[in-house]
Amino acid sequence: MADSSTSLIVDYYTVRHQEALRLQSRPSGRLEWQRTCELLDGLLPAAPARILDVGGADGAYARHLVAAGHQVRLLDLVPAHVAQARSGVPAIDADVADARALPEPDDAYDATLLLGPLYHLVDRGDRMTALAEAVRVTRPGGLVVAAAISRFAGPLHFAATRRWSESIAREARALLTDGRNDGRIGFTVAYFHRVEELVDELHTVGLAGVAVQGIEGPGWTAAEAAVGAPDAETVFHDALDLARVYGSEPALLAASAHLLAAGVVPDGTT
Ligand SMILES: C[S@@+](CC[C@H](N)C(=O)[O-])C[C@H]1O[C@@H](n2cnc3c(N)ncnc32)[C@H](O)[C@@H]1O
Repeated sequence: MADSSTSLIVDYYTVRHQEALRLQSRPSGRLEWQRTCELLDGLLPAAPARILDVGGADGAYARHLVAAGHQVRLLDLVPAHVAQARSGVPAIDADVADARALPEPDDAYDATLLLGPLYHLVDRGDRMTALAEAVRVTRPGGLVVAAAISRFAGPLHFAATRRWSESIAREARALLTDGRNDGRIGFTVAYFHRVEELVDELHTVGLAGVAVQGIEGPGWTAAEAAVGAPDAETVFHDALDLARVYGSEPALLAASAHLLAAGVVPDGTT
């Protein structure tokens, strides 16, 4: 299923960006890591569950889930990520695959994670295909968990890190209407969701009981702005507390940099 977006993504993660460092370096990444682990622990079935981690990169979350007693298989579009997942400790069962065409049988998993592919798939049709594939490989009654980047995250990050400019203001206005990140300004070609769009996408593939949580909470920009300040760690921990308090507060969901949506595959009773 390789297309022009595939080569852009593989190039971005192979040549321009080191994903393995992202969740441990900046405060936004550390918040994302800690909160995603907490939220997954609260959402996923009791261990041992069969979990498919689609877009799992080098295996950071897969290793967290293996440590919790789950049986995890990882798929990712980028060969270098799959190599890192296989060669880390513990080694993760991993293969190269596209979220839009999963090489897995129907109903094979208790839960499927899509923590990344949705924001790299700019066309709604491609996102729906990836979500439908996640539903297909997850057993009835099982869970699909999908991450998205909030529509406002990019411009908020530029402002918090003192990089605001005329061109960022133009990009912020354009994002309001099309949600398409301009990869020349930052990150890569990507789609940034509104909360209601993400909910609609999960409903459209038939998932039930869809709920969205904010991952980093509304204090992540304060933690980013505090980098280098003597009290940066205090601000980080305050932001983490804020995320825990307001993570499910509807009015503040879109203030997080990432959204985490979960829905249940219908089993005839849901
Ligand atoms: C920002 S990283 C997120 C990694 C990790 N899941 C996390 O949440 O930190 C996005 C990942 O999704 C992968 N990805 C993007 N599009 C994909 C697709 N269509 N199929 C499979 N993986 C994809 C990328 O290669 C990358 O490893």
